[in-house]
Amino acid sequence: MMNINPTETNAWKKLQLHFDTIRDTHLKELFKDQGRAATFTIQWQDFLVDYSKNRITEETKSLLIELAEEVGLSEAIASYYGGEAINKTEDRPVMHTALRDFSATAYHKEEVAGVRNAIKTFTKSIIEGTHTGATGKTITDVVNIGIGGSDLGPVMVVEALQYYKNHLTTHFISNVDGDHVMETIKDLDPETTLFVIVSKTFTTQETLSNATTVRAWFVDQLGEEAVGSHFVAVSTNLEAVQNFGIASENIFPMWNWVGGRFSLWSSVGLSIALAVGYDHFEDLLRGAQEMDIHFKEQPFDENIPVITALLSVWYNNFFGAESEAVIPYTQYLHRLPAYLQQAIMESNGKSVDRNGNPVGYETGNIIWGEPGTNSQHAFFQLIHQGTKLIPADFIGFKKSLHGNVDHHDKLMANFFAQTEALMNGKTEAQVTEELRESPLSRKRIEQLTPFKVFEGNKPTTTYLINTLSPKTLGALVAMYEHKIFVQGVIWNIYSYDQWGVELGKQLAKQVLRDFDDVESSVHDASTKQLLISYKKA
Ligand code: F6P
Repeated sequence: MMNINPTETNAWKKLQLHFDTIRDTHLKELFKDQGRAATFTIQWQDFLVDYSKNRITEETKSLLIELAEEVGLSEAIASYYGGEAINKTEDRPVMHTALRDFSATAYHKEEVAGVRNAIKTFTKSIIEGTHTGATGKTITDVVNIGIGGSDLGPVMVVEALQYYKNHLTTHFISNVDGDHVMETIKDLDPETTLFVIVSKTFTTQETLSNATTVRAWFVDQLGEEAVGSHFVAVSTNLEAVQNFGIASENIFPMWNWVGGRFSLWSSVGLSIALAVGYDHFEDLLRGAQEMDIHFKEQPFDENIPVITALLSVWYNNFFGAESEAVIPYTQYLHRLPAYLQQAIMESNGKSVDRNGNPVGYETGNIIWGEPGTNSQHAFFQLIHQGTKLIPADFIGFKKSLHGNVDHHDKLMANFFAQTEALMNGKTEAQVTEELRESPLSRKRIEQLTPFKVFEGNKPTTTYLINTLSPKTLGALVAMYEHKIFVQGVIWNIYSYDQWGVELGKQLAKQVLRDFDDVESSVHDASTKQLLISYKKA
């Protein structure tokens, strides 16, 4: 991988000059070009990606592509797929794409296929009831115990694919909050529940504490000898899992070359395969694989992850946008923004470049969002009329899964209307005209007009997808994964480590020890005062 400060490239300098000429241009102006929508649209399989409502011209696009070329994106993609240790600070390759590579030349083909087969056999036995609990009852409930990448991917996909779900009820325990644990297990029958403990490292405090509590609750009721039929684990740390009391035949391995936040495609996705069946799980992988091929093979100007990543860079580094919203117009995707928060912010929230020097430019975007139309009735006001520029991804589907056309038309009418409103806004003349039709006095109209004007010119990218299926979901998630990669390459940062989360983990351990003797612990005055107050309660 090249190691280039993006701001020192020729393309960046040209982009800066170009930005000065385009920064105030309104999208309405740009849309005078009748061909614009077609020019800035990519139709790929079931996806129509319309990025024409972005504040770009053809020149912007070609300069952004020039930037990608100048920082060596093609070479970086080759290193990524080629299994080079591009996660340099942990000295590991980044090969989650291998988990959905069904080709003959796939990386670690045998091992990956072996684990996929194990997932297939196991999930079939649970779903069909041939694997029973210790007392002979069939399994009805599955509890995934994990946090971060060992939770967010599985929960997001299980929620997204609810329509495809079987009879098993899936629960997720992530937070070390004991109330969260108890609320989840309080009505569960241990005789019919399967616990899936997911931790890549098997050292994560939250997961180990939750697993220990749940195991004790279970053993209390059914005894130690029943554990084997009800507990399985997913980890790279086989020894730690065995020490925890889970037999080797109940461990689904994963590998260090799969980052936690990119691991839903591995055995971390066991709860997904249990919830929707192995075939749907495989469809999810195959959808992702199609996007992997698209990303690897398409020229940059027609490459969805490349284009969308470059747009992000454009807003982040030139317009100074601080955040991006992701608004899925389906309730099924209600956990997508949370999933993307980890994927994007844990990856690209870095302030040191690949030389170990502080970066002199902005990196990772803040990601947030909620499903439409709920979000319209919550935070859209700020996107429409606030002072911040918030580019937004609108994700919608042509067909609903249950086929209620009336509802779907209303939902999608909002979907299309919002991007149009964000782009066009409402001028003073339009507002005055509208108010003139009302019985309001002239004076009142004058008073109200400034509050009713929408500047517009708010950028959006629309992903219009045929239906929400395991396959399209796989492709959508893989699209965001590659977008993260492209942004990391441009920003010259390491996207696949997460050292920033370590300090808090270490301090939490120290604070826990200090609870024994708060008075003599060494902390700043604020923290100490809080600890004393907490222990007095
Ligand atoms: O939040 C830090 C992190 O290391 C994530 O990257 C990871 O997904 C999560 O903790 C859980 O880690 P593990 O799967 O090892 O329990």
